[in-house]
Amino acid sequence: MNQNIIPTTIKDNSIISITTKDNSNKNITKTLTKDNLNQNVKAVQIKDNPNQNIKLITTKDNSITFFNEQYKETYHSVSGAVEEAQKKFSDACKIKEFAKLHDEINILDVCFGLGYNTAVAIDNILAVNPNCKINIVGLENDINILNKLNELTPPIVHYDLIQKLVQPQNQQKNEFTLHEKNINLKIIIGDARETIKILNRAELITIINKLANQNNAKNIQFNFCFFDPFSPKTCPELWTKEFFQEVYAVMTNNGVLATYSCARIVRENMKTAGFIVKDGPIVGRRGPGTIGIK
Ligand SMILES: C[S@@+](CC[C@H](N)C(=O)[O-])C[C@H]1O[C@@H](n2cnc3c(N)ncnc32)[C@H](O)[C@@H]1O
Repeated sequence: MNQNIIPTTIKDNSIISITTKDNSNKNITKTLTKDNLNQNVKAVQIKDNPNQNIKLITTKDNSITFFNEQYKETYHSVSGAVEEAQKKFSDACKIKEFAKLHDEINILDVCFGLGYNTAVAIDNILAVNPNCKINIVGLENDINILNKLNELTPPIVHYDLIQKLVQPQNQQKNEFTLHEKNINLKIIIGDARETIKILNRAELITIINKLANQNNAKNIQFNFCFFDPFSPKTCPELWTKEFFQEVYAVMTNNGVLATYSCARIVRENMKTAGFIVKDGPIVGRRGPGTIGIK
């Protein structure tokens, strides 16, 4: 496997440290942020996979993420990919606390990517309420990324469910659904600005009931949204007030959206869409994430 080191962009303003040697072979540790990373291009070690033309990045918690050539951006914060899924999404939404008190939970995973946010949430829910019915719908426009997930081994207990969800048979049918015990997963492929529109009530009931093989239609909306596009700078089309309005419309009252960005424009657009906006956790960077409550 060919290894090289190239300039990269960090998805958010994460802070990472690297240790290098000076001329007298002493260790020097440098702290890097998105602002100064480009002057310190050796910060992130990237491995080329010659077979798949994809770059793998080992993040600071030792979990792997990918580097997207089109956006020139990583799929996760390099301060820790799995840590990000845990702290910026599941913990920010208080998923465990909710699952302790409820026997059903509906999550909308906007920008499914490697599925870490979904898989970590499943771990968290089952740890506190093994019988909780879990319905998760992911929105993703890049079918090629799903093709790469079987080579990953993140430290997430239920990542095998994600790998079953994206197995080759499902890829051939272009139909990504999984119904296993109390867990129903679906990825809808396409531009999230369009696919979210089919998540109106009737359509959603059909999706969930089909997955669960149930006929008792009921009004299902999302208790939580993990909102995880590439950065507002590189993917502005998903951070608009119009798109936040679509997300707002498919959430329950008191539903919670979590995202890693605290950009002013993001918060303004969330407020215009109707969310009450609060600081999310600070993880591996200076600024907090953002929580939106319906
Ligand atoms: C930061 S990554 C998401 C990481 C993911 N949440 C995870 O846990 O692994 C952003 C994802 O958004 C997807 N994406 C970009 N533009 C999109 C769009 N318009 N509609 C749906 N997905 C999009 C990309 O293909 C990528 O997988």
